[in-house]
Amino acid sequence: MTVEPATQDKASTYFEEARSAEVVNARMGADVDPRIKTVMASLVTHLHDFVKDVSLTSEEWFEGIRFLTAVGHTCTDWRQEFILLSDTLGVSMLVDAINHHRPEGSTENTVLGPFHVAGAPRYMNGANICLDGKGEPLVVRGKVVDHRGNPVAGVTLDTWQANDEGFYDVQQRDKQPAFNLRGVFESDEDGRYWFRSIKPRYYPIPYDGPVGEMLKTLGRHPNRAAHLHFIVMKPGYDTVVTHIFTPDCTYLPDDAVFGVKDSLIADFRHVDDAAQAERFGVANPFWLVEWDFVLAPKAAGSDADWSIETAEEDRT
Ligand code: BEZ
Ligand code: FE
Repeated sequence: MTVEPATQDKASTYFEEARSAEVVNARMGADVDPRIKTVMASLVTHLHDFVKDVSLTSEEWFEGIRFLTAVGHTCTDWRQEFILLSDTLGVSMLVDAINHHRPEGSTENTVLGPFHVAGAPRYMNGANICLDGKGEPLVVRGKVVDHRGNPVAGVTLDTWQANDEGFYDVQQRDKQPAFNLRGVFESDEDGRYWFRSIKPRYYPIPYDGPVGEMLKTLGRHPNRAAHLHFIVMKPGYDTVVTHIFTPDCTYLPDDAVFGVKDSLIADFRHVDDAAQAERFGVANPFWLVEWDFVLAPKAAGSDADWSIETAEEDRT
């Protein structure tokens, strides 16, 4: 039988195991956005390679579908299980890393996490963000400088943290006052900032859903090393989304979302000095962390500036 050339072309578009990704990618239309084309062609190629690499069984494929369905069903307006999946697989940290190469010495980014709340109160420097007085007192102070070491004034520092039981205010609405352990500060004319808080504790990421199930299957714990969150921003500088970690936390080496970087582990000093405590307005003894943020100039074409809505009223 002779085969018409047109039929031969058509046959080359039929599925074949050996050329599976090629066949799928060849279906893309000529007018597809070039970036979408690049991303999707690579995704399909890697996905097919993965299926072949592990010789995925039908049962395993179905289990994967069940898992992703459960991840979707767990998402609500206030819970993003897909981001949690990305965080626990190290993808969030990787995407951040490849998009924020900064000059040596600049403060590094880490994960944002789901507990940032827009509209936290704006405070004067020195305010105490611990509204229920529970926990070991902590004084946080330092400077915001640029990569040449010059102080940067007027920088917004948005901070939030868990309490000494390992819960954010939004997880304990019946136990903690609204906006407990959250606040927005501004660096002064010398680039200085300072505030009072309490020493944070490690805590588990939400693990009562499919991501928690996955961690258990993989023999991983859900705990995050104890930290304070910061978003540090000023127009013209690359926005820093970061943490400072306490140096004594047992979960530093195996933080559940791979958020720890050596450069973000701070020195938390335990100070027993009644006169100093009185000057800071905290009970003695207390913890003191001195931490400078180093901003990098905004790279041309990088992500848009962050904006956070903050409460209008200043509270001290
Ligand atoms: C957090 O630090 O708040 C966080 C980060 C990633 C996942 C869950 C929580
Ligand atoms: Fe956190």
